[in-house]
Amino acid sequence: MQVTLRVNGKLSEVPPSFIGRRLLDYLRAELGLTGVKEGCGEGDCGACTVLVEGQPMCSCLLLTGVLDGREITTIEGLPETFLAQFSAACAEYGAVQCGYCTPGIAVMAAWLQAGGSEVSAQPITKLLEGNLCRCTGYQQIIEALSALQ
Ligand code: FES
Ligand code: FES
Repeated sequence: MQVTLRVNGKLSEVPPSFIGRRLLDYLRAELGLTGVKEGCGEGDCGACTVLVEGQPMCSCLLLTGVLDGREITTIEGLPETFLAQFSAACAEYGAVQCGYCTPGIAVMAAWLQAGGSEVSAQPITKLLEGNLCRCTGYQQIIEALSALQ
């Protein structure tokens, strides 16, 4: 069985040893994309959020072997212009403290800016329910993301 992904724009053939493992493990351990964080490992915290075909998903819940041919984007693959805007908004509104949740939030923010909020027709507060932050109290994150829209 051969599994090939496109990760951050580059084709990547998955070694057999990772085909039965989580996408999170493949991204971090094999590709070195450590911006993708593991928190709960159960789909609850959002620290591991990546875009799969442009949609935010928890990489801890996805088996690499079922993603053949899919386009995966991690925080490392987001456009530099977006990351500069995101960083500036986070600094302005105080949306980062320990930073562990931040990569997942950044991926959500990129999705929102690309029109994700229109597609889902839900407010940012609702869309961020799957991204837990132990530090900020959320209001600063909501304000930073709202400023990016
Ligand atoms: S580590 Fe994936 S949702 Fe928490
Ligand atoms: S800034 Fe620490 S978990 Fe969000």
